[in-house]
Amino acid sequence: MSWNDWLNLFLRWAHLIAGISWIGSSLYFIWLDGHLEAPSADKKDVEGELWMVHSGGFYQVERRRIEPGSMPRTLHWFRWEAMLTWMTGILLLSVVYYMTRGVYLVDPAVSSITPGRAALLGLGVIVAAWFVYDLLWSSAISRLPALATGISFALAAGMTYGFCRVLSGRAAFIHVGAVFGTLMVANVWLRILPAQQKMVDATREGRTPDFALSDLAKTRSVHNSYMTFPVLFIMLSNHFPGTYASPLNWLVLGLLIVLGACVRHLMIGKGGRRYWALAAMVPALVAMVLLTAPASMRAATGMNRADSGPAPAFAQVRAVVLSRCVPCHSAHPRETAFGAAPAGVSFDDPANIKRLAERIEVRAVETKTMPLGNKTGITEEEREVLRRWIAHGAPTD
Ligand code: HEC
Repeated sequence: MSWNDWLNLFLRWAHLIAGISWIGSSLYFIWLDGHLEAPSADKKDVEGELWMVHSGGFYQVERRRIEPGSMPRTLHWFRWEAMLTWMTGILLLSVVYYMTRGVYLVDPAVSSITPGRAALLGLGVIVAAWFVYDLLWSSAISRLPALATGISFALAAGMTYGFCRVLSGRAAFIHVGAVFGTLMVANVWLRILPAQQKMVDATREGRTPDFALSDLAKTRSVHNSYMTFPVLFIMLSNHFPGTYASPLNWLVLGLLIVLGACVRHLMIGKGGRRYWALAAMVPALVAMVLLTAPASMRAATGMNRADSGPAPAFAQVRAVVLSRCVPCHSAHPRETAFGAAPAGVSFDDPANIKRLAERIEVRAVETKTMPLGNKTGITEEEREVLRRWIAHGAPTD
């Protein structure tokens, strides 16, 4: 493995650990809040309490207001999980998308933007999105939550569409995820933690804390909870070219975001009315499955013509793979930026062409996500050769 691969691996590993710690503790606190019981009568500062058993120990937790001047000796904060998730995430984004000469970042079939500009655009939107979002939710509009939520959704939809029209599908998805992730971390560090700090200071100095600060922190934390599941999907989306390579990928991503937010609503929302989320979820799910179905992918990419003529000779198929795929998919690749045999796929042995026919169909015919960034300049006629060969059962004689 090259040093780049090692860097990628360690950053990814660290990102995953930090992310699990962050989201894990967030979900745990949401769970705690949802399960608190009324305290026994003699505890006047306690808002709720509960008992738990875990790994052999019993735990009693109380949620309480603190009297001015009664600061505990040690107060545990949860802040580095979010910051470390963000830092490792931005570094990983750079290693994978900004330092690989654009192969993952741009796609000539989508737009002709240069990799340098695409990187500037990506980083610029990540920063700008925070200022727009924060301004919106600090302004008078935030006093009309329905309107502010509507505007936020419209902005997110516009951003998703825009990214999908400029960057490669997978880079567009990751950048939408990076924007949401950045909003979440900035909410924690620039809004929630400072509000908590002011409350702690007030208590320490013997003043009554301003509980409006607690409400502000709560709103941002609710926003974070709605962004969590969409972000987690986006981080997995790289493994599913069928989602990011769909010609309507912006719509697929939009539906997945709605779906993730609805899951949060069902899981964490309170009262019977939360089941209305199902009314949005079910159609979103159906629409997404239809949009990404192999038949609609082929129709949209013009690969759905009726089979005409006999199967192409295997020699012809081999020639296509040799010139368009083997430059990367080989034990001794000519394109060395990706290391040998990317994703463990090598076509040095022609038997592997048949063995992997189904994946070849998905990547090179249906989704056109291979050759990567079309580095090797495959033509539509050559894709058609692969398609017809696979449609005839991938014969090798
Ligand atoms: C410029 C280098 C490059 C070229 C050329 C290339 N690939 Fe890939 N391929 C990659 C990389 C990198 C990965 C791993 C990342 C990914 O899956 O997107 C990969 C992964 C794959 C996978 C495994 C993942 C999966 O979805 O099953 C298949 C199959 C594949 N490529 C097929 C092809 C075919 C077929 C061609 C030729 C038509 C081709 N590739 C040309 C770089 C390349």
